[in-house]
Amino acid sequence: MSAAPWWRDAVVYQVYVRSFADGDGDGIGDLAGITSRLDHLEALGVDAIWLTPCYPSPQLDHGYDVADYFGIDPAYGDLAAFDRLVAEARRRSIRVLMDVVPNHCSSEHPWFRAALASPPGSPERARFFFRDGRGSDGELPPNNWRSVFGGSTWTRVTEADGSPGQWYLHTFSPWQPDLDWSCPDVVAMFRSMLTFWFDRGVDGFRVDAVAVVGKAAELPDAPPVPEGTAENDVWAHNPYTVFWPTAHDHWRDWRRLIDEYEAAHPGRELVTVSEAYTPDRPDLLLQYVGPDQFHQSFCFDLMLAPWRVDTLRVTIEPVAATLTAAGAPLTWTLNNHDTQRGVTRYGRADATEMSSWTKNNLVYTGAPVDLEVGTRRARAAITLAAALPGSLYLFQGEELGLPEVLDLPASARQDPIFFRTEGRETGRDGCRVPLPWSTDAATSFGFSSASVGADAPAAAPWMPQPDDWGAYSVAAQQDDPGSVLSMYRSLLRARRSLLDPDAPLEWPELGAHAGPHPELLVLRRGTVTVVVNVGAVDLAVAEVLPALVGESLLVSSLAGHHDPTVVPADTCCWFGPPR
Ligand code: BGC
Repeated sequence: MSAAPWWRDAVVYQVYVRSFADGDGDGIGDLAGITSRLDHLEALGVDAIWLTPCYPSPQLDHGYDVADYFGIDPAYGDLAAFDRLVAEARRRSIRVLMDVVPNHCSSEHPWFRAALASPPGSPERARFFFRDGRGSDGELPPNNWRSVFGGSTWTRVTEADGSPGQWYLHTFSPWQPDLDWSCPDVVAMFRSMLTFWFDRGVDGFRVDAVAVVGKAAELPDAPPVPEGTAENDVWAHNPYTVFWPTAHDHWRDWRRLIDEYEAAHPGRELVTVSEAYTPDRPDLLLQYVGPDQFHQSFCFDLMLAPWRVDTLRVTIEPVAATLTAAGAPLTWTLNNHDTQRGVTRYGRADATEMSSWTKNNLVYTGAPVDLEVGTRRARAAITLAAALPGSLYLFQGEELGLPEVLDLPASARQDPIFFRTEGRETGRDGCRVPLPWSTDAATSFGFSSASVGADAPAAAPWMPQPDDWGAYSVAAQQDDPGSVLSMYRSLLRARRSLLDPDAPLEWPELGAHAGPHPELLVLRRGTVTVVVNVGAVDLAVAEVLPALVGESLLVSSLAGHHDPTVVPADTCCWFGPPR
């Protein structure tokens, strides 16, 4: 029996709390809503859920602006509702991860309010990056850094006496002041936060934006960026914060805390997963994951790869080789709340072009989309990802094949990226539209419970749903063997029953047949051979892979119509060993 921890090959489902299910009819998703829908997650076959931040927050970045790390936002429930969710999830053997945001808090956090009310040089300001401005009157920002969400990374404050004052640093929006991790208060607060939630039964944390937590002490100007760099990508070229090494001391400290917690609480197996985008740099990714830092770190490159054999392979093979050689686990994902949904990404007219490879999930292209093609490819992509060694993180709604909602009116948009770039970047709202559970438009397609709130109808959802949302609903798909939902369910079952978690990832030689078929990606896990046809033409298995494969085990395109001697276009198949 393998002694590996549960998370090594777990399937974790990301719940965007605001959009999953609304238990009290106010149009906003909440913890009671999640609890009421756990059956769906159990039937899907996930091992754990990761909740996006549900702490008290002004919600200016939907919870990634935390005003209190030790509570629950009233819009989402309270600590009792949280405890109920954890207990009900546990009853179904589903573990619960939270989201910790260490780089910044909300400008409504009591610490930041105290900093604003205190003078320059005070201990209250030492928890943040307050600096004097440049220019004769301090009217210019302290350096040239650009924010992830557009604009300068600095905002000037008005001092308590009404005079124009210092500036504070915010890597994201002005409502998210960066915390200075060289301040012991900051270190101590997060240590007690982790323990507080572990004591409530939480099994781990997804750790937000770890790549920008470190900063060069003098905060020097960033060098010029390469010509043509997209506005949303400028920040990523700042060498004085992105991957700045000092943060690793804190991640080591967290790991010690967790190891000690586990030692003191037999039976608890905790996990942290770091969010660090490290395009083409498995060596950098490796710095975050391992026995003395995070347990896992997302391998994001595959998510952003164009639909081509060369880019798929180059976003899997080097990272898998580097991490595996170091004994570090692999953590795959194809979707999250910051990234255009896969169905849309893969359906874009430029989805097979190298030019679409932005390597930055916040930079989208505006190419026209064919959702039928995108859905086929998204089905194939998850069938590929599910076959890789390591864990797999899903984002809510991908199991329904939801597309990105591209035509949200400006008046409905809420993402700070949209506002900070004055609409030049549409932002991430389109992947955060509330989920459809039923075909009943009167309850926002089952998103809002109509029964709670007595006779009053449920409020409109916080973000409008498209008119055709019901066709994607769980109710519409669950009894249809050809639906995306049915495919996800059987894929997760097959992953468990057919794949040996210890089987290494191998790349069999295609020999003479590789030449004429550059649209085939072939890999092997133990006895299972995985074949992806990224081309537009069906290929006869016997012709292209004579000695490689045997019985057809699984196919990502519509079940029921499958000829097992063919790998259809834009499809991923799993095969048994050659007979
Ligand atoms: C989160 C985003 C969030 C940002 C600031 C990210 O990496 O995933 O949703 O806006 O950090 O916290």
